[in-house]
Amino acid sequence: MTKTVVITGANRGIGLEFVRQYLADGCKVVAGCRDPERATTLTGLANESDGRLQVIKLDVTDSASIAGLVDSLDGQSVDLLINNAGVYGPKGAGIGALATEAWLDVFATNSIAPVQLTGALLPNLKASGGARVVGISSRMGSIADNTSGGAYVYRSSKAALNAAFASAAIDLREHGVCIGILHPGWVETDMGGANALIDTSTSVTGMRRVIANLDMAKTGGFFSYDGSVIPW
Ligand SMILES: NC(=O)c1ccc[n+]([C@@H]2O[C@H](COP(=O)([O-])OP(=O)(O)OC[C@H]3O[C@@H](n4cnc5c(N)ncnc54)[C@H](OP(=O)(O)O)[C@@H]3O)[C@@H](O)[C@H]2O)c1
Repeated sequence: MTKTVVITGANRGIGLEFVRQYLADGCKVVAGCRDPERATTLTGLANESDGRLQVIKLDVTDSASIAGLVDSLDGQSVDLLINNAGVYGPKGAGIGALATEAWLDVFATNSIAPVQLTGALLPNLKASGGARVVGISSRMGSIADNTSGGAYVYRSSKAALNAAFASAAIDLREHGVCIGILHPGWVETDMGGANALIDTSTSVTGMRRVIANLDMAKTGGFFSYDGSVIPW
């Protein structure tokens, strides 16, 4: 049976590569992005997909937009939800210079939206009978791994995502839904920059392997793209 995969932030970077690779795998892909009219690479893929790629306007911080995604799915089951959309937020701001509004904006996207979207799609995930939900986190959200300080906003937003998804792993177990919290590596994208260590293809190939191996024994775990466990 064809698997249905929902991916957020699918117009560029890691999200776009997830779309490419799951399409190549034969999946049906529902790709969310904020501005489909400008997402020309994504819509180009959709045009060549024989209807297997559906592009949906989706701002993950907007509850009406999430409701629109739920409506467009019209009750169909979702086998895999990848909460990929993310922002880094203000760079370089040190303690004493952190703007509350900008911090809250980053939390809205990185920490709160993945939980809200997972909740909104829960009936679709339950209908799969073995769905997986992934939160694209970051090693920078690991408190144990923080030896360099700084990055208050981004680090705390990903640590909050990790904490919320650890709860979701426990709560959704009874519905047969597995949760994976993944670090994609330091990846060449607009966010990762030119000095990054790996390309999107390497990152997504690795994460797809980790996702395929997720089960109830591993649910709620924090894994790097290479499968290694990251300390909390
Ligand atoms: N690159 C890295 O080295 C790295 C390392 C660790 C973790 N990550 C995580 O990996 C994920 C993907 O990062 P990336 O490197 O591919 O970043 P990117 O190239 O900056 O892409 C970010 C994506 O998120 C989307 N997005 C942001 N806010 C959104 C919102 N409110 N609603 C819907 N979409 C939204 C963007 O859409 P627009 O085009 O509309 O802005 C874009 O598609 C993020 O969660 C990031 O934190 C990345």
